[in-house]
Amino acid sequence: MLSAYPLKALLCFTLPFSTRIVVATQDPIIIQPIEFGAMSSPTYHLPPLPYGYNALEPHISTQIMELHHSGHHQAYVNNLNAALKNHAAAVQSNDIRTQISLQQAIKFNAGGHINHSLFWRNLAPPGSSESKSSSAPNLIKQINATWGDEEKFRDAFKTALLGIQGSGWGWLVKTGTGADKNRLSIITTKDQDPVVGKGEVPIFGVDMWEHAYYLQYKNGKAAYVENIWNVINWKVAEKRFLGSSEDDNACLKSTQGLLQV
Ligand SMILES: [Fe+2]
Repeated sequence: MLSAYPLKALLCFTLPFSTRIVVATQDPIIIQPIEFGAMSSPTYHLPPLPYGYNALEPHISTQIMELHHSGHHQAYVNNLNAALKNHAAAVQSNDIRTQISLQQAIKFNAGGHINHSLFWRNLAPPGSSESKSSSAPNLIKQINATWGDEEKFRDAFKTALLGIQGSGWGWLVKTGTGADKNRLSIITTKDQDPVVGKGEVPIFGVDMWEHAYYLQYKNGKAAYVENIWNVINWKVAEKRFLGSSEDDNACLKSTQGLLQV
């Protein structure tokens, strides 16, 4: 049962082989052979959207949302489950070469599952109270302290998003520790590299793969980036900002693939 597994045991399967060694030295729980050897592969499921496929119109079309969620995200889930099943069989048969060969597929598809699960929940119907930045007073205060004002932050985020070459994601993350725990940064990640795993707390992300906008915006990527502000869920962003990486990671324990924040 995956639910019996500690989070870092779960992340053990989502990170590249070299990274797993580092994590293992930080938390010996994940290298307990009784848990690892007796495991059956977890099965992830596509989380339902917290709104309808047409809820983000006119900024993100119904067609895009349906294909993106039921097609692309479902494929990441399916491929992750297949890779984890093969990985579990390789562990049972002590086939280390196959285990190593599966690391990239696990990282890519787990990243796709995690990133999209976070993404869906950090979007909200336009005009809703959640889509107003006034729903995130603490986060906006920190944004203003970091970038000067909300407009300058949006400009910086837009520049980061449009600077992505190929496929990737843009994220606002909380990266600080200790007395500086609320420090914010804008980061971009390549392909489906998972935003979690390095200690950052993802506040919200924007999918910059062409499948996220091309059917509607074609090569007008800047217009997609401009319109995404109409559907950012600031209420969720505020909750993530006030939380910690442990709060966020705890949500990933669910075999249902549901993220609660
Ligand atoms: Fe996507």
